[in-house]
Amino acid sequence: MTDSLFDVSGRIAVVTGGMGQLGAVYAAGLAERGMRVAIFDVADGDVPEGARAYAVDVTDRSAIEAALRELEVEWGVPRLLVNNAGLDSPPDAPAEEVGPFEDYPEASFDAVMDVNVKGAFLCCQVVGGAMAREGRGSIVNVSSVYGLLSPVQDLYAYRRERGETFVKPVAYSVSKSAILNLTRYLATYWARSGVRVNTLTLAGVWNDKPAEFLEAYEARVPMGRMLEAKEALGAVVFLASDASSYVTGANVVVDGGWSAW
Ligand SMILES: NC(=O)c1ccc[n+]([C@@H]2O[C@H](COP(=O)([O-])OP(=O)(O)OC[C@H]3O[C@@H](n4cnc5c(N)ncnc54)[C@H](O)[C@@H]3O)[C@@H](O)[C@H]2O)c1
Repeated sequence: MTDSLFDVSGRIAVVTGGMGQLGAVYAAGLAERGMRVAIFDVADGDVPEGARAYAVDVTDRSAIEAALRELEVEWGVPRLLVNNAGLDSPPDAPAEEVGPFEDYPEASFDAVMDVNVKGAFLCCQVVGGAMAREGRGSIVNVSSVYGLLSPVQDLYAYRRERGETFVKPVAYSVSKSAILNLTRYLATYWARSGVRVNTLTLAGVWNDKPAEFLEAYEARVPMGRMLEAKEALGAVVFLASDASSYVTGANVVVDGGWSAW
């Protein structure tokens, strides 16, 4: 049986940051479900069947507009926008990025806010604006448990025990908090225009992280493990499909229980 409730086939999606770890899973997973997927990214990478890549820096409004124009001619107006492009400071970030809060570089703050907040804002203006003119669409703005709650600095204690300085930086958290209210603002603004806007909040995704980090992280999660990238896809399909037709302004939290205690 094919379930029409979750059917997204034939619809057009824009996935920003679609060359990254999670974005590639969304792009492939949506294409497998029959969506035509436009990847907006500054990086190159594999393009799954059913997808196309557009060189777009999400901080550049004219680049978003140019890609949308091309996309509209080739395919039509998108039904889904996943604002997934993002900058973070990974556990192996250079020392100046991960020092004390008091010394966190202003330029790093601007760079993170530019991609994570202004990039999502501009994509909403341009792509969301086109959806609103069509009277339909769904926007998924990606946040993090670090945007809901403070990072747990203890997870990085193993680095301090090695004599390194490591403080999980502030800009990522601030930027991901901003996403929550960008979502609420637009959900109400476009509520009667047929465009639904929701946040997808994720916990840390498993990849090749240092063993000490993994151990500390897993101990902190009620489910006892990190998120696997493919486990974030179900929420994106739900929010893209008519199964979520009355869901707007919400925060869908996929965090293994991280924020539950
Ligand atoms: N990985 C995690 O643990 C985790 C946890 C919670 C939330 N998230 C969020 O999920 C999203 C994806 O994370 P990821 O782990 O796949 O990251 P990633 O670094 O693997 O991918 C990010 C992608 O964004 C692209 N990008 C960066 N700047 C851009 C710009 N200016 N214009 C266009 N594209 C740009 C990069 O080229 C990359 O392909 C991010 O918003 C991140 O904050 C990730």
